[in-house]
Amino acid sequence: MKDFIFHSPTKIIFGRGKNAEIGEELARDGVKKVLMIYGKGSIKRNGVYEEVTSSLNDNGISFVELGGIKPNPVLSMVYEGIDLARAEGCEAVLGVGGGSVIDSAKAIAAGIPYKGDVWDFYSGKGPSEALPIYAILTLSATGSEMNGNSVITRDDSMEKKGMHGGAITTPKVSIIDPSVQFSLPKEQTVYGAIDAITHVAEYYFNGSKELNFPDRLCESLIRTIIESTDVLLENPTDYDARAELAWSATMALNGMTAVGRGRGDWSSHQIEHALSAIYYIAHGAGLAIILPAWLEYTKDVNGDKIVQIGERVLGIKGNPEETIEELINVYAAWGAPVYLEDAGIPPSDAEKIAENGSIGYPLGSAKTLEKEDVVGVLKLASKSK
Ligand code: NZQ
Ligand code: ZN
Repeated sequence: MKDFIFHSPTKIIFGRGKNAEIGEELARDGVKKVLMIYGKGSIKRNGVYEEVTSSLNDNGISFVELGGIKPNPVLSMVYEGIDLARAEGCEAVLGVGGGSVIDSAKAIAAGIPYKGDVWDFYSGKGPSEALPIYAILTLSATGSEMNGNSVITRDDSMEKKGMHGGAITTPKVSIIDPSVQFSLPKEQTVYGAIDAITHVAEYYFNGSKELNFPDRLCESLIRTIIESTDVLLENPTDYDARAELAWSATMALNGMTAVGRGRGDWSSHQIEHALSAIYYIAHGAGLAIILPAWLEYTKDVNGDKIVQIGERVLGIKGNPEETIEELINVYAAWGAPVYLEDAGIPPSDAEKIAENGSIGYPLGSAKTLEKEDVVGVLKLASKSK
């Protein structure tokens, strides 16, 4: 096992009805005015908006709202949020939504005290301070509720890039009420599950040798995510399955799966970010297409681990190809796209995708990828491979 530092500054409040505690949390931290940001309206339809704003009012927290954050969130909205929070003198940022909203909250929180352009933090420079960040999670997928990452698309150049602010941009408090996810469209549940599985895979397949607890933790997460998703596709209001999926998705990218392994590979993610930047597809949909193709491309270095996960998680005894095939079958049975064509992406665009600015070469830790390798992965992601 490699040496590690594990540091999580997030207080997680988990359970039915817990969103009503947000006002009390902010009041306890001495916050008097908060910028509350949210997406395109789901929180107004499922009761979360009412629950959160009542809690803020009951605890004497004044708030300024910025709604309309769209999936694959954009930099122009981040600038708008920074201007608004500065003008209004907000002391903290509260994101109420999925990963897109929470990522935007982090960007705004880091941008407010910064004199330069917040995009600097997405171009390799780390933030040195940020306003406190609070999150009410409504979609389990990204793990953004318990990590310091934020992924934003620059509208003018269509580059999707990440900020990795560590503890500075990690939420101080995140509330996860799994029951607010009853209202998710089926495909968002599926994409969230696939995103979480891929987060686990980015560490599990990072080139590290076999580890006992760290491997079994990853395997348990993937097994739980698959089982919970199967249940939810039959019964979207099954509370226990929502809760199992929610906590697994948080654990999948809160640093725990990195323990003892070193850095993750992240090639599948970077390639996917180019897909969602260019074609505006859901992040989890792009990952359903890319992860199996990347496993296929890297099976010379990942073969033993692919067989191990096949045996321990998917019930496949055999070669890496059968395990990859089974993963594709699981995703296809959930209704996710599994080839570029399924998402309307022409395989002939491979070069253009590989050249998109979202990808920072060289990629990977299990296997180093250059541009021609990414074209190779994309070829394997096509029906005509
Ligand atoms: O905008 P609203 O109306 O809220 O609708 C959203 C949106 O259309 C809807 N939704 C969310 N909660 C709902 C709901 N609909 C009904 N009921 C609910 N309870 O779901 C749609 C998708 O939301 P979004 O926030 O975009 O999804 P997700 O959580 O998957 O976030 C994806 C973004 O996070 C980035 C992705 O690249 C993408 O931009 N990532 C962030 C990471 C991180 N911070 O660590 C890591 C990931 O790898 C990922 O890159
Ligand atoms: Zn992801």
